[in-house]
Amino acid sequence: MITYSESIQINALDYSRVVKYNINEVPFGKVFTDHMFIADYKEGHWQNLRIVPYQKFEMSYAMSALHYGQAIFEGMKAFRQDNGDVVVFRMRDNWARLNRSAVRMAMPEVPEEIFVEGLLQLLKLDKVWVPDSENGSLYIRPFMIATEEAIGVKISSEYQFIIIASPAGVYYSKPIKALIQNTFYRSVKGGIGYVKAAGNYGRSLYPTKLAQDRGYQQILWLDAEKGRYIEEAGTMNVMFVKNGTLITPELTDTLLSGITRDSVLKLARKMGIPTEERRVSVEEILTGIEKGEVTEAFGVGTAATVAHITTIGREEGDLIRDYVLPPVEERKYSHLFDKTLRDIRKGRIPDEFGWLIKVER
Ligand SMILES: Cc1ncc(COP(=O)(O)O)c(C=O)c1O
Repeated sequence: MITYSESIQINALDYSRVVKYNINEVPFGKVFTDHMFIADYKEGHWQNLRIVPYQKFEMSYAMSALHYGQAIFEGMKAFRQDNGDVVVFRMRDNWARLNRSAVRMAMPEVPEEIFVEGLLQLLKLDKVWVPDSENGSLYIRPFMIATEEAIGVKISSEYQFIIIASPAGVYYSKPIKALIQNTFYRSVKGGIGYVKAAGNYGRSLYPTKLAQDRGYQQILWLDAEKGRYIEEAGTMNVMFVKNGTLITPELTDTLLSGITRDSVLKLARKMGIPTEERRVSVEEILTGIEKGEVTEAFGVGTAATVAHITTIGREEGDLIRDYVLPPVEERKYSHLFDKTLRDIRKGRIPDEFGWLIKVER
């Protein structure tokens, strides 16, 4: 068990760069807030906890994360409520998932108080960066990298845990088209698909580019064993509505346990909407679209919340056959989940699940 007994040193700017930007308009992930949180892991424990002005860092070309991929991250959001309060959504779930990633990648776990205090102190300093627009949020990126200066495949003895944040608007301005990917696979049984390890994302870029070149914004990943079952939509979990039931692939070690996925399932159950977490085959969905039984398909994740899928493409020989879903305006469930999540985050309806933590004014 790691013990933590140090307080956070704060080196704060006496001005904010925020005035240089219209934070309701900045492109996703390009502008960072005034400060960042850093903790070092050395000699077997976390130390030197600090909040400093957002900055670049010096590293060795031999730094182990660069060579052997011990790099994990999280993605979460803070919101500005209608009354001006700033709240973070399901922070402890992201902390727990970061530590599941850490265990799988043989990295040290981050104690809850370091994650929570580091994040809340950072948000307290940088809360002017949380947009107040209807779809705006502050995207928060906690991550950990192996920093030992050593070549040789082995577990690093040194790490940094860092939190940076970036104001964000809508992720997808339009509904998306998704292409079924049956040549490349995202993850395998026994692999690292269930954790947020950097390597999972590097490997997805080339197949995603191929799909984008053909006019599809995202990929539907299939299971690598049989190539039959749908697992995720790009970097989102995926959901379908079939005959009024909300269906989503069950959690295995090949897909990420999304916090938005869990939130939508909890909301659906509370609303009395039938839900099924199980294997979902490509054939079931495509036949269901043709028969008019599958009426909605959407991705769910922190960045987009809900991304409506208009069309699912499948390669048939050299051609792609498109399976077109009913118009987005006619969809009942995905809009309902999107709106309910927004209403909770904005403080318009009660937070019955206790998902929000308020940042001190
Ligand atoms: C591969 C993958 N699946 C699903 C998700 C959705 O997870 P969450 O809802 O926690 O953002 C993400 C985003 O974090 C992801 O990267």
